[in-house]
Amino acid sequence: MRASGLLVWRVLQKLKEMATEGVSTMDLEVAAEKMIAEAGARPAFKGYFVPAAGEAYKFVLCTSVNDEIVHGMPNPKRILKKGDIVSIDTGVKLDGYYGDSAITVPVGEVGEETVKLLDVTRESLERAIGQVRAGNRLFDVCGAVEQHVTNNGFSIVREYVGHGIGTQLHEEPQVPNYVDRKNENPRLKEGMVLAVEPMVNAGRPEAVVLKDRWTAVTKDGRNSAHFEHCVAVTENGPWVLTRP
Ligand code: MF3
Ligand code: CO
Repeated sequence: MRASGLLVWRVLQKLKEMATEGVSTMDLEVAAEKMIAEAGARPAFKGYFVPAAGEAYKFVLCTSVNDEIVHGMPNPKRILKKGDIVSIDTGVKLDGYYGDSAITVPVGEVGEETVKLLDVTRESLERAIGQVRAGNRLFDVCGAVEQHVTNNGFSIVREYVGHGIGTQLHEEPQVPNYVDRKNENPRLKEGMVLAVEPMVNAGRPEAVVLKDRWTAVTKDGRNSAHFEHCVAVTENGPWVLTRP
């Protein structure tokens, strides 16, 4: 999982550099597909069946711009412009194990509120990572995101959640970005790996899925940010597999 995690990190670093004015989200897709193939890995999302959409996903990346929360699809006509933010989410399978990570990248200079949205979302992930320890419980991770986001006046998307990950892209448990008392609260044990992925809206929390059946956007049209890392529970504390 460390090898797949580092490959995902390398791909995202390259795409972050590429994500400038005039580049299309399909340009990012093409670059990612090439890097993953050259590394001898398989893209995790392409061909992945999602019941809610009723079909398999067709791309290596999810590229979600501005008010798009998650599952935006690469498109040669979607040209990035200054002031946009783009969430780039990708996963790979390498030697039987999955890696999954996302970043949200500003294109040129973005507004003050959007800078804060990106900072708070990134910080909420870091705080959650700090809770991925043996003996803690799942709600410690979920609550760390929730607290930081709500303390800063932003809102948490409820329709999409993080997940366990390993030999499958999505494993138990679900990892909501809020404490969901209707769910189980398992104790974390050495060897578990969680994909923690806060999706945070500048305005209201509600999400709507577009007619393309994939793209989730904010109902109020305001921006949304998304960061994701895979984190292993080890005897030495949290180990973020998707960065060096
Ligand atoms: N990172 C997301 C997840 O972990 C995206 C996967 S959806 C897919 O669930 F359909 F594109 F695979
Ligand atoms: Co994920």
